[in-house]
Amino acid sequence: MNNKQILITGATNGIGLAAAEALAALGANLAIVGRNKTRTRIASARIRAAAGRGATVATFIADLSSQASVRRLAAEVLARCPKLDVLVNNAGAMYGTPQLTEDGIELTWAVNHLAPFLLSKLLLQRLKESAPARIITTASQAHQGAHIQFDDLNAERSFRGFGRYCETKLANILFTTELARRLEGTEVTANCFHPRLVATGFNRNNGLLMDLGMTILRPMSRSPAKGAKTLVWLATSPDVANVSGVYFFDQEQRPPSPEAQDTETARRLWEISERQCAVSGRSAKARS
Ligand SMILES: NC(=O)c1ccc[n+]([C@@H]2O[C@H](COP(=O)([O-])OP(=O)(O)OC[C@H]3O[C@@H](n4cnc5c(N)ncnc54)[C@H](OP(=O)(O)O)[C@@H]3O)[C@@H](O)[C@H]2O)c1
Repeated sequence: MNNKQILITGATNGIGLAAAEALAALGANLAIVGRNKTRTRIASARIRAAAGRGATVATFIADLSSQASVRRLAAEVLARCPKLDVLVNNAGAMYGTPQLTEDGIELTWAVNHLAPFLLSKLLLQRLKESAPARIITTASQAHQGAHIQFDDLNAERSFRGFGRYCETKLANILFTTELARRLEGTEVTANCFHPRLVATGFNRNNGLLMDLGMTILRPMSRSPAKGAKTLVWLATSPDVANVSGVYFFDQEQRPPSPEAQDTETARRLWEISERQCAVSGRSAKARS
């Protein structure tokens, strides 16, 4: 991985931090995205220590719930990283109550689906110029049984915290399929994976009961390092150099749910996601 440039979101904790440490130890140059300066600085120090060779870690601060912030992040990455070999869309969260972002988008959808969608699109040209390159998205087996509510995209009629989270993880797989289709012939691959149940900060933001639930699940959960293994493999292994549009867990291809394999749904989601990002795109153009 020497001289490979890897950008990873959600690298201040959990699976993203463990993956960044492992990739740095393999000799990659890491660039990490965090939303909090102190947590990002601490994560950067941990990743540098894991690299163990006076490595540098580039840090970027962005709140992925805001499309303006994602656009600023992409512009900064393009300015600071002349080469980008791997983009890892890993940041994600679940919210127990419905909340709207500054763009008027339901928060879980904004962070888990629209942020990877927009960031990948804005960095695509740089990835193509750096080809062979890879895009990896952290999805989840929680997508099983979920449906994209195209007639209620902000979940105004149907919000349930876990259900909404599952819908965004289905969106991660559909996004990967459609992205891979659009990238055919470019030497840029797009894959996603399920890390299994991992002991991280996930779902620790939804009150005492949920927090207690996650503590009870802890003995059944994997360590972040184990949860990050498939991510690290997808970023580094020659075995998947020419594999694209696939859902993995434990380093094996797995068929996702029937809805996740529906190419028409994937196309429709892509078009709707473009529309959901269009308003912030027009504002960004007007400002420049
Ligand atoms: N843990 C599991 O069992 C499990 C299972 C399947 C899939 N996953 C997926 O794994 C991915 C990583 O989650 P994790 O389990 O490692 O949880 P985690 O420990 O809570 O880490 C989540 C990361 O995402 C970042 N993040 C969240 N909201 C953000 C925002 N608005 N802007 C920027 N960064 C934001 C967090 O930053 P802060 O440090 O600032 O909070 C943190 O670095 C997620 O996509 C999740 O859906 C997890």
